[in-house]
Amino acid sequence: MIAKHCKISRRTEPQALHLPLLKKQGSTVVTVRDKDFEIYLSEKEIQTAIRGLAAQVNADYAGLNPLFIGVLNGAFMFFSDLMKHIQGDCTVGFVKASSYEGMETSGKVAFQAMDGLTIEGRHVIVVEDIIDTGNTLKALYQQLGKQQPKSLRVCTLLFKKEAYKQSLPIDYVCFKTENKFLLGYGLDYDGLGRNLPEVYILKN
Ligand code: IMP
Ligand code: MG
Repeated sequence: MIAKHCKISRRTEPQALHLPLLKKQGSTVVTVRDKDFEIYLSEKEIQTAIRGLAAQVNADYAGLNPLFIGVLNGAFMFFSDLMKHIQGDCTVGFVKASSYEGMETSGKVAFQAMDGLTIEGRHVIVVEDIIDTGNTLKALYQQLGKQQPKSLRVCTLLFKKEAYKQSLPIDYVCFKTENKFLLGYGLDYDGLGRNLPEVYILKN
């Protein structure tokens, strides 16, 4: 099959409606800036996996009123789709983490917007888009751990098992992936591509 390409138009003048990344319907390749990505996980595969993961979480946390903490920006789409399938009482909160510049992890992780989240005594579930080296997760666990949660677990859409350098358990995973750069469904390349409903992988 010949993959159809879609180029991003770089507008110099501001327009009323900004569409930073355009994808032709049915195309299997997207081009973001200088890189081509091909489809890796379809919308259907993602949604099916999320329903399965939500069922596990529902079974494990029935009656516990868990606190789900989404790690922004990347987890926003996964978080929202996951929460639609969570049953019973629960609360939500967000932290903002930044560890990536372009395609390289910077190694340093900064968090913002932790204010207003009461962690103490709560069953906390961290919701991540992707776990790569695990540096972000480790730093977040260190911060959250100080605030005495009753329990602390993580659920992630994607897990790059080969890249993982930490020993913390990854409790709930939708997909174990190849150790390559991924895009879409919340994940960006240089700020673009988060709006794609599928996950794409960097083309060789
Ligand atoms: P880690 O600290 O190395 O585990 O990486 C954590 C964060 O880096 C993720 O939450 C993402 O925001 C970002 N990241 C890691 N791998 C990718 C990728 O393949 N594409 C886009 N962002 C990524
Ligand atoms: Mg993330």
